[in-house]
Amino acid sequence: MAFALLAPVAEGQTRSESERRRIEAVTAPTTGFTAAEAFEQLPGGAATVSGDLGREAFSRPSANMSFERELDFHLGQALFDKLWVASPASTKASDGLGPLYNARSCQACHIRDGRGLPTGGPGLVLRVGRVRDDGVLPYPLFGLQIQDSAVPRLRPEASVRMTYTETEVALNGGEVAVLHRPDYRLDAMQGALHPDSALSARLAPQMIGLGLLEAIPEAEILAYADPDDRDGDGISGRPNRVVDLETGQEALGRFGWKAGAATVLDQSAAAFASDIGISSPLLPAPWGDCTALQVECRNAPHGNGDLRGTEIDGPALGLTAFYSRNLAVPARRDVDDPEVLRGKRVFYSIGCPACHVPKHVTARLTDQPEQSFQLIWPYTDLLLHDMGDGLADGLPHGVATGREWRTAPLWGIGLTEQVSGEARFLHDGRARTLLEAVLWHGGEAAAQRDRVIDLTPEDRTALIRFLESL
Ligand code: HEC
Ligand code: HEC
Repeated sequence: MAFALLAPVAEGQTRSESERRRIEAVTAPTTGFTAAEAFEQLPGGAATVSGDLGREAFSRPSANMSFERELDFHLGQALFDKLWVASPASTKASDGLGPLYNARSCQACHIRDGRGLPTGGPGLVLRVGRVRDDGVLPYPLFGLQIQDSAVPRLRPEASVRMTYTETEVALNGGEVAVLHRPDYRLDAMQGALHPDSALSARLAPQMIGLGLLEAIPEAEILAYADPDDRDGDGISGRPNRVVDLETGQEALGRFGWKAGAATVLDQSAAAFASDIGISSPLLPAPWGDCTALQVECRNAPHGNGDLRGTEIDGPALGLTAFYSRNLAVPARRDVDDPEVLRGKRVFYSIGCPACHVPKHVTARLTDQPEQSFQLIWPYTDLLLHDMGDGLADGLPHGVATGREWRTAPLWGIGLTEQVSGEARFLHDGRARTLLEAVLWHGGEAAAQRDRVIDLTPEDRTALIRFLESL
């Protein structure tokens, strides 16, 4: 992590300084907030939504969106919620599902636009690949991921069974935390898994603030990278490099647990293809993730070739991405609570911001007014970090190794249970509490994790209270 290398965001600084003063003038006398806290209360800048939104807290459009654009948001929402059906079907606009798939709609995994759950639904996906010295190849039989559902007459690739082993971590003050490590077994497999293959379990992440993350200038993200750890703080941070499906050019990876997708549009097209089996202009194969060896699947009826062209056409894919880009970040709660403020000091003093970089300023974007030029608080550097053996999956993705993960954004994380019905954290949903999520940190974050173990119980509780307020 190299703060000294951070390029000045000249425009952003001017705005944030003047606005800081303005907010200080407005809020300080009545609320007792400092200017910074007033800012932090609105993590998504002017796009932040406020009020008690209950279970729908992640489902609101950017607060600064115009009425006309909100109509597009709702069209996108309908596509995100839509249940696709198998071909051939009388409902022409909704067919093309699979033939192999994981879920019939986006919403089925991203529960109420929040994260998925590792059991009881399709929200956990197993990626698969063959690992070589020089990288990773799609699995010749299974493709990029295991599809555990299929249209009638075809068989799913496998069914996934999960088991847990427990380990205990003794914390300063006498408390003992129990960590669950998941193991996956594939039953009823339509073929064998080669010994040089690796599986990577991925939970559907929360969908808020994605357009804002996309709008962080690349130069700012790269300024935090320190691949050779020149400043010697034990934390490196590498950008992922992936192919942008739209341009065909190499680009910075930002989305997914390993930053394996360059844009929200790319990730949406990839989801349609691999998760639902729906073709789009970016990934036009009508058979989704079926490989050349899966002949029955490749020959099954599909929905390409009618008026839509591909099973979802370009405009509809665009609307789905527009929706995904504009799911608003909710305002923070309890920002001025003394325990939250204490937890915030702990968060900073033990070094969490080295990866969970609190704030960024987005670029000026004429075609995306909602995301343009906002001071945002996502708590991520969008870079890859070696998180140690405990979290390693052994499956590279882009330039990300089998030990590296993208720093997860922390905004909205305190609302997880309220939205998804259960709290599950980390890339595979193994952590049932925020504390467990932190205790799984290793590798580059081992020092910060150890500091959490050594905290007094009061400081540790305050740290969690701070995370819950995000
Ligand atoms: C079967 C479950 C499943 C379905 C269905 C699904 N997703 Fe996802 N989604 C995931 C998983 C798992 C990830 C993380 C992928 C990774 O780590 O590479 C993800 C990631 C994303 C991301 C990136 C979020 C981030 O924080 O980086 C976006 C955007 C997204 N999905 C959009 C969609 C859209 C749009 C649809 C419908 C077309 C959809 N998803 C359908 C499971 C699903
Ligand atoms: C070296 C970089 C690094 C440091 C330092 C770090 N984190 Fe993380 N954090 C990550 C990465 C990477 C992930 C995602 C790991 C995964 O899913 O396997 C993550 C995930 C999390 C999550 C779960 C997010 C989610 O969406 O499920 C929480 C909570 C969290 N970190 C809190 C903290 C706290 C608190 C600290 C300080 C004690 C801290 N982190 C220090 C890199 C870091």
